[in-house]
Amino acid sequence: MTKFIAVSNRRGGVGKTTLTMMLAYGLSVARRQKVLLVDLDAQASTSIIMMGHQRWRAAREAHRTTSGLLSRIVTDEAIGCKDYISHGIGDVALADGKAPALDIIPSAHDLDDKEALLMIAQQARFHKISDAFDNMQDRMGRIIRSSEGAYDQVIIDCAPGLSQLVWGALRVADLVLVPYIPDRTAEDNVGWLAHRLREIGTPKVFTVPNRVSGQDGRAQGIVAAVSGRYPPLGIQIPAAQPLATALDYREKVGSLASKFGSAVQHVNGLADGVLNLVNKPVAVAAE
Ligand SMILES: Nc1ncnc2c1ncn2[C@@H]1O[C@H](COP(=O)(O)OP(=O)(O)OP(=O)(O)O)[C@@H](O)[C@H]1O
Ligand SMILES: [Mg+2]
Repeated sequence: MTKFIAVSNRRGGVGKTTLTMMLAYGLSVARRQKVLLVDLDAQASTSIIMMGHQRWRAAREAHRTTSGLLSRIVTDEAIGCKDYISHGIGDVALADGKAPALDIIPSAHDLDDKEALLMIAQQARFHKISDAFDNMQDRMGRIIRSSEGAYDQVIIDCAPGLSQLVWGALRVADLVLVPYIPDRTAEDNVGWLAHRLREIGTPKVFTVPNRVSGQDGRAQGIVAAVSGRYPPLGIQIPAAQPLATALDYREKVGSLASKFGSAVQHVNGLADGVLNLVNKPVAVAAE
């Protein structure tokens, strides 16, 4: 059964894309899972990082993007995302040299504009704005879920802030990973998202501190406070140069070790942490 995993935080720059990329390679290369990425951020960072500029531009020109997918929301066309998928992406090969089962529905920079236009169009169809929001979220969620059965995991990189499209994805996710940087705003940001998700009935939220220093007592205090209130995945990702440089797409395919260097242990740890969660029923701690 396909597991839908959203990576989200209203705050920008906390590591959503980094975590998505680590999971993509950790699951598809290190653990041989069949993985689909969905980029729901108009910045299209995940798309460019995972496809390289050239391939991403070609997909964008062919409207095979999440932005192109919006046409399925505005009309009552049959729900489906198959035609928007780019297959065999990434710059990492399996240990035997073969390509991993790693696909993507990339994003495009006009995603936000399209969503705004769509909202205006929806207002003409619905009397109440809340019904228009509901319809968009519902259709976006169902479009994403239409990939059910074709993959082991679908990983959705959510835009910072919370668009209707992101809410649509969060509503249908089996699991929401919330990366955060352990600083003074972390608890509020994580808490706000966790509460909103509980309201819409998605209680499976797991927090992942990123750019953490084990030596930093203050940061570790914040991690302990956040983890005490919102279930932690149990993985801390350190600030590590190889994780920053891994965002550069390499034209020449290489190994997992050459891509991540000393950070490969965190890529494997993250993949195993997620597999451990999705392969067994999730018990959610009461707040
Ligand atoms: N663990 C890490 N070690 C080193 N650099 C990191 C780490 N995590 C993230 N970064 C760097 O921080 C910056 C922001 O990370 P990233 O793009 O993953 O955040 P984001 O939450 O996806 O941002 P946005 O909200 O803009 O989508 C990037 O330059 C990335 O390389
Ligand atoms: Mg990002």
